[in-house]
Amino acid sequence: MTGGCGFIGSRFVERLATAGDSVVVLDKLTYAGNLANLDGVSHEFVRGDIADREAVQRAGEGCGACVNFAAETHVDRSILRAHEFIHTDVLGTYVLLEWAREADARLVQVSTDEVYGDVAAGESSSERDALRPSSPYSASKAGGDLQVLSHVRTFGVDALITRGSNTYGPHQYPEKLIPLFITNAFDGKELPVYGDGKQVRDWLHASDHCAAIEFVMRHGQGGEVYNVGGDCELENLTVVARILELCDADDGLVRHVDDRLGHDRRYSLDSGKLHSLGWAPERDFRSGLEETVAWYREHRAWWEPIKSGAYREYYEQQYASRLGT
Ligand code: NAD
Ligand code: DAU
Repeated sequence: MTGGCGFIGSRFVERLATAGDSVVVLDKLTYAGNLANLDGVSHEFVRGDIADREAVQRAGEGCGACVNFAAETHVDRSILRAHEFIHTDVLGTYVLLEWAREADARLVQVSTDEVYGDVAAGESSSERDALRPSSPYSASKAGGDLQVLSHVRTFGVDALITRGSNTYGPHQYPEKLIPLFITNAFDGKELPVYGDGKQVRDWLHASDHCAAIEFVMRHGQGGEVYNVGGDCELENLTVVARILELCDADDGLVRHVDDRLGHDRRYSLDSGKLHSLGWAPERDFRSGLEETVAWYREHRAWWEPIKSGAYREYYEQQYASRLGT
């Protein structure tokens, strides 16, 4: 499992380890990687970069499959600087494909609904749709996906792609909408809503996302792409209102600020292909969000240290002029 110290990857490692699988985690431990996410979870750990052939060979020794969670994942950071995104999400994916080809192993590429770009009201993206990424992040993920598909066709590599929607739950780094707003609300800090806040995202609980990836890893057809949606499309302002309510916070904390550049208005996935094979999301957003807020309330020791140090520099750069602070 690459990126197994991140938000979704760590929950996937826990899921497999609990089922008795033997898991090797390859993780560079970037700002988003956190060894504490794997506390109490049985695994073997290798620190390294997925774009480093030697590290990949070392970690991959004896593995029958690789699930690639490793990526630079935050759209706003990709707008500030895209270099690391192209390094990890494109070059890193290519190095893993070379490993899979040589080792004759399966590679599951964990991708995103953002590769399809904006989706008009009333429409949903199917796996056959063209890729129209809008941000440097989604363009780098699309680049990784295209490398995967080219290696399937040209070299017969046993690789598959999942394209998940906006994922939420415990252990998510507090730069993304839900954990940032929950932790800001606890501390009585402003909640910076980009633009009019009417952008639509489809929310998927991390445990449902992991179940879908495991399903695809075990039962998916090589060369195929599988959309993984949460069947829960909501405007950002609706999510923010629920967070305020669950955190007992005042709606005066909401600040409409300058929009994200190139901001996609809406994502929507048609997940019919995976539904027809037997996977469907099980968690409902209301209880999933409630449980997530409770986790952040009880785990200040996890997120408070993160929100100091280098994070503060990022926060200043991203929000100071927007908030006029
Ligand atoms: P995250 O940012 O929480 O964690 C990323 C992990 O990858 C970290 O542990 C980091 O240290 C590691 N990493 C980064 N660069 C690396 C490199 N070069 N070599 C090795 N390790 C490296 O990410 P996440 O939110 O858990 O996302 C995991 C995957 O799921 C990503 O591929 C992302 O594109 C995809 N995805 C995420 C979401 C979401 O809403 N979070 C939705 C759909 C798809
Ligand atoms: O759709 C899947 C994608 O979801 C993943 O591929 C990405 O890795 C993940 O980061 C996420 O991307 P988004 O850009 O949709 O997530 P984010 O939490 O950054 O933003 C969600 C929405 O909230 C989006 O419309 C932007 C808005 N937003 C976000 C932040 C951080 C705000 O209004 N204010 C903010 O401060």
